[in-house]
Amino acid sequence: MEQVKHIETEEDAINLMNIALEHEWAVSLEYLIHAYSMPKGKFFYHDPVMKIKTDARRQTIQIGIDEMYHSLQLSIIIKKMGGTPSFKTDEVIRYPLIMDNWKRDKKTEDLVTNLYQSAEFEEGAFPKIHNMVLNISYDEVRHSEQFQAMMEAMRTAGEEDVRLHQPNPELSGKEDVQLLHEITRIENELMHRYLKYVIDFSEHQDLSQRLFKNAIDHMKHWDKNSGILIKMGDVIHIENAETDAAGVEKSERAMPDSYPGEDRISALETLVPAEENLIVKYEKLISMIPAGEIQDQLQLQLALDREHLFTQNWLLTNAKKIKGLV
Ligand SMILES: [Fe+2]
Ligand SMILES: [Fe+2]
Ligand SMILES: [Fe+2]
Repeated sequence: MEQVKHIETEEDAINLMNIALEHEWAVSLEYLIHAYSMPKGKFFYHDPVMKIKTDARRQTIQIGIDEMYHSLQLSIIIKKMGGTPSFKTDEVIRYPLIMDNWKRDKKTEDLVTNLYQSAEFEEGAFPKIHNMVLNISYDEVRHSEQFQAMMEAMRTAGEEDVRLHQPNPELSGKEDVQLLHEITRIENELMHRYLKYVIDFSEHQDLSQRLFKNAIDHMKHWDKNSGILIKMGDVIHIENAETDAAGVEKSERAMPDSYPGEDRISALETLVPAEENLIVKYEKLISMIPAGEIQDQLQLQLALDREHLFTQNWLLTNAKKIKGLV
């Protein structure tokens, strides 16, 4: 991770925030991938901050969501300052052992804490940004302590060799599983695409709040699909990952780094066909899945996407009605 030590100009501040942002995007996805590759409800630890015994998998998901909020905070401030928020991501890695993933998660927390806390702001320069960076850094301090406690609980229980669910290459010819992977990739892309527009239109709460709701729905669908993939005997994919002989997967581009649409109309215009495409894929998948719990869940997701399509069509139509709207 690049370091920015001295903050004096707007460019320094934007540069620091963009370096941090590429980290935040990566870990927001990486922690979810680690959690959604773990067996459910099996690993508990004593949380050093909340002072309760709690589910390590669930808390790892919670930390991933904190990272998404960090990404959003940083991007909105970068945008306000006239900069361009980066959608590139630092490397995303999945090790076969749960313990190795938490080791990495703790290490990246300590690295980013150092990035935030070692930045020296020229006296009086960007006090609100300085304050924000310090505030975020203490979320990272908490995360680091929580991952540390998760590892200690695993060591105490003698569970250091427990593996994550592993990708199952035998399912590569199964059309329903492959279609679900494809849908899940689109859910992730759409979630981040909506977030890009939330950031782009953050000066006005109406549009940004509506788009944020849809981003969160797509994130929830990504979560649910990750669970269904495990029920089908597979595990969530990491996009563009290379796997080495030891089964370690690494990706430099675990999500798209650019999204179409610059102004209000061109951004909204991309969302209608994107939602339509997703709806068609869900309909096809549902026709291949027997009645039952999985089909019911997919039906709910399809229904919400139809709601998105209705909303997006009207957001676009209404935007086109008003002259001078940017
Ligand atoms: Fe963070
Ligand atoms: Fe963190
Ligand atoms: Fe949608």
